[in-house]
Amino acid sequence: MCGIVGYIGNKKATPILINGLLRLEYRGYDSAGISTIENDGLSIMKDKGRVKNLNEIPGIDDLEGTIGIAHTRWATHGKPSKENSHPHQDNSKSFSVVHNGIIENYNELRKFLTDNDYTFYSQTDTEVIPNLIHYYYSKDNNDDDKRILRAVKCAVNDLKGSFAIEVISKYDKDHMIVVRKDSPLVIGANEDEHYISSDIPAILSFTRDFYLLNDYEFVVLSRDSAEFYDKELNKINKDKKTIEWNASAAEKDGYEDYMLKEIHEQPTAIRETIGSRLSENTKIEFDELNFTKEYLSSLNKIFIVACGTAMHAGLAGKNAIEKICKIPTEVDIASEFRYRDPIIDNKTLCIFISQSGETADTIAALKLCKANGAKTLAVTNVIGSSITREADYSIYTHAGPEIAVASTKAYTSQVVLLNILALYFAEILGTCDKVNDYKKDILELPKKIEETLDSCKNINAFAKEIYQEHDIFYLGRGIDETVAKEGSLKLKEISYIHSESYAAGELKHGPIALIENGITVISIMTDSKLVEKTVSNIQEVITRGAKTLVVTNQNVDQKMFDKTIVIPETNPFVSPILSVIPLQLLSYYIAKEKGLDVDKPRNLAKSVTVE
Ligand code: AGP
Repeated sequence: MCGIVGYIGNKKATPILINGLLRLEYRGYDSAGISTIENDGLSIMKDKGRVKNLNEIPGIDDLEGTIGIAHTRWATHGKPSKENSHPHQDNSKSFSVVHNGIIENYNELRKFLTDNDYTFYSQTDTEVIPNLIHYYYSKDNNDDDKRILRAVKCAVNDLKGSFAIEVISKYDKDHMIVVRKDSPLVIGANEDEHYISSDIPAILSFTRDFYLLNDYEFVVLSRDSAEFYDKELNKINKDKKTIEWNASAAEKDGYEDYMLKEIHEQPTAIRETIGSRLSENTKIEFDELNFTKEYLSSLNKIFIVACGTAMHAGLAGKNAIEKICKIPTEVDIASEFRYRDPIIDNKTLCIFISQSGETADTIAALKLCKANGAKTLAVTNVIGSSITREADYSIYTHAGPEIAVASTKAYTSQVVLLNILALYFAEILGTCDKVNDYKKDILELPKKIEETLDSCKNINAFAKEIYQEHDIFYLGRGIDETVAKEGSLKLKEISYIHSESYAAGELKHGPIALIENGITVISIMTDSKLVEKTVSNIQEVITRGAKTLVVTNQNVDQKMFDKTIVIPETNPFVSPILSVIPLQLLSYYIAKEKGLDVDKPRNLAKSVTVE
């Protein structure tokens, strides 16, 4: 859950590294550090606090090195402090290392190294890595140009857990070594320079050509070449991939925050995600999939597994798959799924949703399903991300880079892609006679999202009324309950207000005891079959003094409620894509009213690469 950057070229490394760190700060922001190769050896500057603090360390502007590594941290082992910040060095200060991931056997390795007279200055798991490299380097009597690579390889062989690592050394002032396992790392390439990063958007303004690494691939980088090696240090070939994302997609583009920009990008994100896969009156195309009627008919269950917002998108996906494909579908939280002995076999299709494609719990759940004989399908936003390398099939949302920690456009893109997938299955299976109507509903979404954004123009006034509250409740029935969950999560994440979501009909079975005078209850109503029942439930909380906000496209008596946001009419099948938008904006304006950093909420990181 940290971010790492590297540069090797002919330019001064420090400004490039700091620029990259600022873009990766969403991955962690409690400390930052940098190490460059200078004429007199390795420099190292680091401290707790955000990247801007690092930029203020005296002397940082004087660093002249053109090779360097850098890190922004989200603490796992050891509190945020200068000592625990990366880069870490071995005792002789010959190697500098940055690491993203977790070394699970670090205690054992620490003991081994302590027994061999190494001393530790931090509480981190990472500090074992430079010392192990030093240990193996000093044991190697063969002083050829592969000596550091061999030492890194031996050190990596000892590590259990997940890691993306960059190594520089005072013994070789023209190279950098990188390696990864279960943690993201990409290498951007220009003619005479290489950029290394935990994600593509952070270095997209420098290059569009990338090498994507598999687990246990070692890379020796020089300014103008990249040599790739497998686990046994056999040389391998690797092709570059050109990334189509526009560099400006990773900028704020005049918006105050990434989150606000990403909320407003939803018409485009949905348009792009629909792309050429779906059009009226022609069959849905998924070039990436080759499911047959025989296979789909053989399925006795679909599991959708994900975390957080992606899991909420999965709930909308379940609704679509069960309704139109008639295949029983279960949605699970990845971290629970793994440990509950789910019944999986070759008659189970397992779908994994992950914006980043790097979420450790989701990837671990995928591996479990694969091992049990199920086919696995990843739904992700990041080309070449770890999950796509594990899954049998991958399909992509085309939401563009999502930088704000709180997911918005990725959620709506995931819901739309799952809907399209459900229609694709239904067309193969012949289980739905309204496929063309549903297609029309999907194709109308980009325009309706624009209208929804317009209908939210005054939502900041409601945010001003409620931003000081301590508890807020969200209600809905059916598909609207899945959106209530997402609205509640969004609010918690960025405003730090406690909130809960409930199935509206469940309220009277307990939670209504929490409703007292003045408490805010937010309800979503988009399904004509359920609207009367939900109105009755809202009436129950109004009677007990609640202040109410309703998001609806139904014909209801608006006078009943304190505030109503009317969104365009649509089929409940796709309504989450519209009804979630007022909730995203409400959370955003509440957090702004409280003066909080909406893009980087406390304690959270964008991609959770630890279990
Ligand atoms: C969303 O706002 C959250 N930050 C979080 O719940 C996120 O959706 C979750 O961690 C899953 O991430 P992924 O989609 O990258 O796998």
